[in-house]
Amino acid sequence: MDPENSPKKQSLIETRGCRDVSFLDLCSIDQVTKKDLVLIYDIARKFREYKTYKINFNKGNSLVNAFFESSTRTMASFDLSAKQLSMDTTAVGSNCSIKKGESYIDTIQTVDAMNVKVIIIRTKESGVPEMLARHTSASIINAGDGWHEHPTQALLDGLTMLDYFNSTNLKGRTVTIVGDIMHSRVFGSLVRLLKKLDATVRVAAPETMIPKHANKFGVNLYYNVEEAIRGADIVYALRVQKERGANGFIPSLREYSKMFGISRARLDLAKKNAILMHPGPITRDIDVHSALSVVDKQSHILQQVENGASVRKALLWLIGNRYDGKVKSYKKI
Ligand code: CP
Repeated sequence: MDPENSPKKQSLIETRGCRDVSFLDLCSIDQVTKKDLVLIYDIARKFREYKTYKINFNKGNSLVNAFFESSTRTMASFDLSAKQLSMDTTAVGSNCSIKKGESYIDTIQTVDAMNVKVIIIRTKESGVPEMLARHTSASIINAGDGWHEHPTQALLDGLTMLDYFNSTNLKGRTVTIVGDIMHSRVFGSLVRLLKKLDATVRVAAPETMIPKHANKFGVNLYYNVEEAIRGADIVYALRVQKERGANGFIPSLREYSKMFGISRARLDLAKKNAILMHPGPITRDIDVHSALSVVDKQSHILQQVENGASVRKALLWLIGNRYDGKVKSYKKI
């Protein structure tokens, strides 16, 4: 079979039609419209069906993974997704010339001068991808900035939830998010997405781990995890983020696990067909008990990972190849 004319390639092209996403960079879920969501998910579902099928949609384009903080799933899935779209990829990270005193802006403008199409950025500081996006011709995708946002994580979570409930929205569904809300960029993007999908959102955490601004998202706050989980459709656990000093907000990890860790008994308070999700990495027996983690039939944690690859491939195709010919306006500094 000539891959150029394969039915899989044709089917992806037909699914897309002439549609484009509304954004040229992706720094926040606020940029993603409901129409964008439909398009991203239509394409991601096709890519998921075709697993690691290699296609030449982005041939001749390059991607740079610029991760200044550690990552397993986000970096690997962007790299594999790019390769499966026939992109050339390389990485700069915590061992790059930033160590010699170079700034983020000079590092990323240096990478941009190599005519790359997409730069994926993860930093420990909030707001860096948005700032860099204004000064590069390459599209910037935020792979997690400090305590702020992690938009591609929310997109893959949304796909996992919608497909489980075989629905186009989450109206009438209750999502309970449990854990270190304060330091979580995953929460920052997820709550924005869940509101777009019309979900009811409950948040359960020690009082010290709920930021003052959490209320602005229209969530229901709980300091008792059992109350928060009772009757929920989705239980979404978050990690205690030691690297952001979260240990200083709780008496001890053991105490946290006792009060908020997701156990069999706690998960059983949710609806019978409820699912357990977690963005990873899991701290076993602290945020989720080991016996549930990835093995329990209610756990969708590895399904989230699979959907991550599909969503990222869809984004790279949509951002890297536009039908409308739009290009970024940007300013070198
Ligand atoms: N969920 C997530 O961002 O995982 P990684 O840190 O492994 O990329």
